Amino acid sequence: MAQSAETIHGSKSKSGAAWWVEPYLTVLALGLFGVYSLWLVFFQHTGQFQNYLSPFFSPTEDWGIKVLPALWVLWAPLLFRATCYYYRKEIYRGFFHDPMACGVPESRRKFYFGETRFPFIWTNLHRWFWYIALVVLVFLWIDAVKAFIFPVAGGGSTFGVGLGSLIMLVNVSLLTMYSLSCHAFRHLVGGGSQKFSCADGSPTTRYKLWNTVSRWNEKHGLFAWVSMFSVWFTDVYIRLLIYGVIHPVRFF
Ligand code: FES
Repeated sequence: MAQSAETIHGSKSKSGAAWWVEPYLTVLALGLFGVYSLWLVFFQHTGQFQNYLSPFFSPTEDWGIKVLPALWVLWAPLLFRATCYYYRKEIYRGFFHDPMACGVPESRRKFYFGETRFPFIWTNLHRWFWYIALVVLVFLWIDAVKAFIFPVAGGGSTFGVGLGSLIMLVNVSLLTMYSLSCHAFRHLVGGGSQKFSCADGSPTTRYKLWNTVSRWNEKHGLFAWVSMFSVWFTDVYIRLLIYGVIHPVRFF
């Protein structure tokens, strides 16, 4: 039977923490990430330090379009994350308190249509933002490769490994896992098939792929958080280099 928020107050979530910890931590983390992103958009005009490029500024806006540099990039991953099924759950719980946890009934507003009408119907565009996010991911992989190619005095370049190279590689790997564990991708590779034996292509390959993506999908919430923090951390690291607060570390 459904309980009110008050009656489950004091009970524990699956992780063992009080049920209200997760929604409030979500508000704090997403709120701070949102404020940081806005600060970048309006007050920072570069994310480049030597061969390191912040994920917030990739691809660079040298395509003749004049917008704020971070805004040129940020709308795509932000819309991708804002419409992510996992974040939607967290946002409904943390920001709207509707419902705040499992077993708590939804509020009974007169005009509430869930995600079937305005204002939340747009979140169904998630699969299209997934395609756009893949394009951004390609640029981020190019940046990660460039992070291993260092300029040399007198011209030319050489392969090398710096702390920033590793940070950027880990970041793009986590973002890749976040994208490939997406519910929309799982649906694309097999979730939409009624029967694998009748699916297009090789049924065995499709089944194996769907199985693999399903396993990743179980960890989608984890990938959502670690990839968000890695994007944040990567930008902070590069920004500290830009400001001269720290010096680049090069292993070879
Ligand atoms: S469901 Fe989270 S990125 Fe698609």
